[in-house]
Amino acid sequence: MSERDLILVVDFGGQYTQLIARRIREAGVYCEIVPYTAAWEELRAKRPRGLVLSGGPASVYSEKAPQCDPGLLRGEVPVLGICYGMQLMAFLLKGSVRRGERREYGRVQVTIRRQDAIFKGLPREMPVWMSHGDLVEAPPPGFSVAATSEGTPVAAMFDEQRRLFGVQFHPEVQHTPFGKDILRNFLYDICSCKGDWTPASFIAGQIEEIRKIVGNGRVVGALSGGVDSTVAATLVHRAIGERLTCIFVDHGLLRKGEREEVERTMRERLGVKLITVEAGERFLAKLSGVTDPEEKRKIIGHEFIRVFEEEASRLGELEFLLQGTLYPDVIESGTPTAAVIKSHHNVGGLPEGLKLRLLEPLRWLFKDEVRRVGLELGLPEEIVWRQPFPGPGLAVRVLGEVTPEKLAMVREADYILRTEIRRAGLEREIWQYFAVLLPVRSVGVMGDERTYAHPVVIRAVTSEDAMTADWARLPHDLLERIAGRIVGEVPGINRVLYDITSKPPGTIEWE
Ligand code: XMP
Repeated sequence: MSERDLILVVDFGGQYTQLIARRIREAGVYCEIVPYTAAWEELRAKRPRGLVLSGGPASVYSEKAPQCDPGLLRGEVPVLGICYGMQLMAFLLKGSVRRGERREYGRVQVTIRRQDAIFKGLPREMPVWMSHGDLVEAPPPGFSVAATSEGTPVAAMFDEQRRLFGVQFHPEVQHTPFGKDILRNFLYDICSCKGDWTPASFIAGQIEEIRKIVGNGRVVGALSGGVDSTVAATLVHRAIGERLTCIFVDHGLLRKGEREEVERTMRERLGVKLITVEAGERFLAKLSGVTDPEEKRKIIGHEFIRVFEEEASRLGELEFLLQGTLYPDVIESGTPTAAVIKSHHNVGGLPEGLKLRLLEPLRWLFKDEVRRVGLELGLPEEIVWRQPFPGPGLAVRVLGEVTPEKLAMVREADYILRTEIRRAGLEREIWQYFAVLLPVRSVGVMGDERTYAHPVVIRAVTSEDAMTADWARLPHDLLERIAGRIVGEVPGINRVLYDITSKPPGTIEWE
């Protein structure tokens, strides 16, 4: 593994840092995000082929401006500075950076003056995405101006002697159509990467790693049926087979058919040792009379851990707990400033009572990579492309108190919605789609009878990462079909609403 290509993305707090990392990985090169405070000695020990300095919100002149170790720019490895990264490069190497009078934001046309190095094969004029306040007025000694735009005298600069490159714009966003080519030129021509980051190479490396870590030990994992825990379990099963046991807690808050599907895939198709715990009544009893969303989450999270611990303690000697932690969680847990909007008590949260060591084979992957690894492992598409489902399940989709009757209503409405979306062939385009049962009633008429029943809300959103989301423009005839079926087939529901709020200001879930 040590000879694998590695690029380090030095994070200055930019909004696009994760996107830079994803684009590099998409280009077939493994990369990691490191804080700007890291010393060059420390980074050099990882033997990176190159560095990318991210953008960031600061001005190089502000007192608290994040600065990296100047050792990074000594020319020992190639460096690409993006936006703030380029300004900092210019500032530290004695170029001149000017405070912009106004922020430049949006699509800008640049003229390429150097059609070589990272701009090899690009047109002379091209659109790029700018988002900056300060700008580089004159590049440092040794650099030449590689691109300009109307408002930016130095839109890019090169020092090919030291292999230092800077771009004022953002090659990682889609609004820079040639951005991928720029990154590829940097990775392959300048840093001489081999492109050895593929799902197959990840799987091979991880299997070796898991065997080394686990030795003759035994592993237990909580399976939720979601893509992360399923991929994690499949990978570990490949590595150590029977010494992995998975526990699936059926908390009674699952979607229709979910438990059966998970059991079928894991047991029959993949041969994973799986224990299902039927705990629906236990959870419902604990939730009785509870209406506050955060309270519900807490109860479910605690109860889940208790059930899991009880079951795991019956398994005898165990050493490891498998968790489907992903790279964004690893990065985010390292940023104290990340705002907590809702507490996400993921089912599968850490059962501390068991004193197990953590095994997190996906901790270096982004979500899209988990999907690709899942496909490579031979998992069915329905699982790999499954929409995210919150740990507390349908409990946060029955607003107010959760009762068996209300759960049945929302479960059935959700099933109809899912069936119709699949029939319309829209599953992949929509990030999440589900039904929410409201705790109020309204009057309706059905047959010759007056009804007084619950409304259900249909929520469907498109998103890239759930941080922001847009309401999905579902066709009206599809909405009509869904509404007709729900009101006609689900007793207790007499009205269907469609939520047209995006995130922000709304959240994806209603609770
Ligand atoms: P919100 O509602 O915060 O949701 O916009 C963002 C994403 O997180 C999921 N979500 C949860 N997932 N436990 C989870 O495991 C939770 O308590 C929880 N709450 C929201 C939500 O479905 C969406 O994908």
